[in-house]
Amino acid sequence: MPAASFAFEGAAVVVIGASRGGIGAAIAHGFADAGAKVQITGAEPEPMPEEAERFAYAQLDVTDTDAVRDFADRVPRLDVLVNCAAITQRGAEMDPAFFAHVLDVNLTGSFRCAEAFHPALMAASGSVINIASMYARFGSPRNPAYGSSKAGVEQLTKSLAIAWAPDGIRVNALAPGFIETEQSARARQDPAFVAGVEARTPAGRWGQPGDITGVALFLASPAAGFMTGTCLPVDGGYSVV
Ligand SMILES: NC(=O)c1ccc[n+]([C@@H]2O[C@H](COP(=O)([O-])OP(=O)(O)OC[C@H]3O[C@@H](n4cnc5c(N)ncnc54)[C@H](O)[C@@H]3O)[C@@H](O)[C@H]2O)c1
Repeated sequence: MPAASFAFEGAAVVVIGASRGGIGAAIAHGFADAGAKVQITGAEPEPMPEEAERFAYAQLDVTDTDAVRDFADRVPRLDVLVNCAAITQRGAEMDPAFFAHVLDVNLTGSFRCAEAFHPALMAASGSVINIASMYARFGSPRNPAYGSSKAGVEQLTKSLAIAWAPDGIRVNALAPGFIETEQSARARQDPAFVAGVEARTPAGRWGQPGDITGVALFLASPAAGFMTGTCLPVDGGYSVV
């Protein structure tokens, strides 16, 4: 019977997209607090100061297949890959070129990273955690590319879970609700939108990046050893109303 342990001493973890102090950063700190050796990446030249102090950092564009493969080649061992990199821009996603770019970052980028780390994950019987969204299932009129990409991430999670189960790799996803991060900063400038989210969310508040951390650790832990291909909502109940 596997222990329900959330200790990750000696584990090697990479969090893609942890540079802006949001969900990726919170997950990185959670794994490090649990004993893991954590590396992070982001699109920016430098991460936020709190992450710069604690983690090895690589600037990595997830739309660049060669760069992603080079980065993966420099990571000798990997137990957990967390795919957090994503973009969205309200009102700009009806433009076909930008639509394609959002898909390239959010969906193909998650695939690129998983594919590049497949050998290392197989060697460690590791696991992948993808970050989806409630917009994988809800329509998103102002963010159609983002919603499509996140639906794709949920489907990719299922497909890779099946494809890589024989390799001993588990692949799961999380679907955060409304979380206070840089990505949601623009939407949060609209008081009516902020109040609407609070009113509909049974938990009565927006989420914090730290609300996602424990669920990510759980999915990577032996406690979730019989879970693969799933997508867990972490949304204060928003999606069940
Ligand atoms: N904030 C929310 O309310 C919310 C809700 C649901 C899902 N999510 C998802 O959670 C994840 C983390 O989001 P966040 O809110 O912490 O956002 P964030 O903007 O703080 O972080 C996004 C990260 O993606 C990286 N990134 C952007 N473009 C990239 C590129 N081309 N190559 C490599 N990295 C790139 C950024 O550098 C950053 O590190 C994302 O997948 C997001 O879609 C967020």
